[in-house]
Amino acid sequence: MYKILDKIELCDKVHQFRIEAPHLVRKARAGQFVILRKDEMGERVPMSIGGLDKKNGILTVVIQEVGKTSADMNRMKTGDCFADVVGPLGIPSHVEKFGHCVCIGGGVGIPPIYPIAQTLKEAGNKVTTIIGARTKDLLIFEKELSEASNELLISTDDGAYGTHGFVTTVLQKLIDDGVKIDMVIAVGPVPMMKAVVNTTRGPKIKTFVSLNPIMVDGTGMCGSCRVTVGGKTRFACVDGPDFDGHEVDFDEMTKRMKMYVKYEKKAYDKFLENEKCRLAEKVKSLKN
Ligand code: NAD
Ligand code: FES
Repeated sequence: MYKILDKIELCDKVHQFRIEAPHLVRKARAGQFVILRKDEMGERVPMSIGGLDKKNGILTVVIQEVGKTSADMNRMKTGDCFADVVGPLGIPSHVEKFGHCVCIGGGVGIPPIYPIAQTLKEAGNKVTTIIGARTKDLLIFEKELSEASNELLISTDDGAYGTHGFVTTVLQKLIDDGVKIDMVIAVGPVPMMKAVVNTTRGPKIKTFVSLNPIMVDGTGMCGSCRVTVGGKTRFACVDGPDFDGHEVDFDEMTKRMKMYVKYEKKAYDKFLENEKCRLAEKVKSLKN
């Protein structure tokens, strides 16, 4: 059992969990992921690592409520336990002395960029981090990333905070200003990663993206995380999650990620309906 040491709400429907997992944390490195299961009957959910406290053996993950299982997990409280936290899974992010690295995180893709930025900086790189959210209230990990980076740049889609526009608006400006960039790594929604890759393709900047396709076992056996990279089939769970962004077939990935949307929506609607009924029952019993 893996105890939740603390849980905090970062923004609407997004919670940060710090979980006691000393054996996993000892081995884990930036860019890897874990698979969580709330209880023995629970669905296996892949989650990016959002922080590693090596000294105290604490794993940080950030969960956005997008369906039944993530909603169920976000109802867990400090002191509750996950049945399983499997990992570390996947290959760690490639770290070397590149020179000037630009780390890009969008929305709930921001937390996984934090340990990556930390590791790249520790390796002697200059790290500029760009983080973006739809609006200021949804911007997370600003403090962490300002500490982990030499420079932190922010964008919001509505212009409420930082540059008005997408993370790619900020990246394009750096390129237009003639800033020398040796490597880019991006984590976030697929359209964002595709846009980042399209921005760096012309100037030929080495760009890694962290892919999060549908996963089941996380060990290369089920094939559900299949992606096409450089015309070859790769499994994101064991060959990734990081890949050369210029080689990724994002359109195929987008199509595959939509396969179960109808079923996911049905399960989520049923979960919310059951929750409403349980709440109504509770209110009724308190009144009686
Ligand atoms: P979102 O849709 O609110 O977008 C966040 C930011 O990404 C935007 O503010 C913008 O700056 C940028 N962005 C989005 N679309 C863009 C586009 N077309 N062009 C350029 N920039 C764009 O994000 P969200 O709702 O927080 O969702 C985050 C996503 O990140 C989820 O889909 C989740 O699955 C994914 N994620 C991926 C990983 C991973 O390992 N790849 C890890 C965690 C989360
Ligand atoms: Fe099953 Fe990758 S999740 S092969």
